[in-house]
Amino acid sequence: MANHLERIFKSDRLVYRAMEKNEADRAFIFEHTTNVPEVFGLTTDVLFRPQTREPSDKWTDDMIDGCKLAVLICLPAVESTEGEQDQKPKPQEPNNQVSNNPEKKRNEPTPIGYIILSSNERPEDSAAGYKTGCLGVAIAKPWQGKGYGQESGRWALDWAFRWCAMHIVTFDCYSFNTVALNMYRKVGFHEEGRLRHRIWWNGAYHDTISFSILEDEWRALSTKS
Ligand SMILES: CC(C)(COP(=O)(O)OP(=O)(O)OC[C@H]1O[C@@H](n2cnc3c(N)ncnc32)[C@H](O)[C@@H]1OP(=O)(O)O)[C@@H](O)C(=O)NCCC(=O)NCCS
Repeated sequence: MANHLERIFKSDRLVYRAMEKNEADRAFIFEHTTNVPEVFGLTTDVLFRPQTREPSDKWTDDMIDGCKLAVLICLPAVESTEGEQDQKPKPQEPNNQVSNNPEKKRNEPTPIGYIILSSNERPEDSAAGYKTGCLGVAIAKPWQGKGYGQESGRWALDWAFRWCAMHIVTFDCYSFNTVALNMYRKVGFHEEGRLRHRIWWNGAYHDTISFSILEDEWRALSTKS
């Protein structure tokens, strides 16, 4: 049962680590998501205006405190032999295990985005609420369009159903966010419905599209791949 655990926080090209309430992670979220209009504008429905660090940091902390899963999507650390690169030796493996090979040096994994899974755990809010998760994802601009959104989306779904006992995972998207719409369809989400005129964007009202994937649908996809 435990023979795949060493790969649990990894996918083919990516590793996933907990988002932390520290300067590095808060700065990453600010510099690559909150303070980048092309990313931030598509991930929240707050008033679209220039952002400052303080609310961005609070938002980072809220993701950590309030979500079942709040991870940074990272490119794995690069392994190099002693003297190969002018970089300080790092004591940690990407999965936070101390390296047992003194000949090797490792850089830290490089954050390229985040993925979160929130859930409504209070049964009084919704009969099935505590089994329903909602995904949120952002890939920093330099790494967009390379399939990392799809790869991390599949990994997060796997985690949601396999480890968090979710029954359904949902996802809401603006109707004009073509890249996200394509990405989620490819990951296996089904369109549930359209909320008309829910977002005021660039001088006009637009629809929001709701997507979901059920546990059984995910299982069928996992068996195929
Ligand atoms: C949406 C997002 C997470 C997708 O991640 P990504 O790594 O860029 O996307 P991927 O490369 O995995 O997949 C995108 C798919 O859309 C396609 N695509 C890319 N640009 C496109 C465009 N302009 N029009 C239509 N399809 C497009 C890609 O070709 C790819 O499909 P393919 O595998 O068939 O080639 C990322 O672009 C992002 O963070 N955007 C800003 C924030 C955001 O929108 N978050 C989602 C909120 S709902």
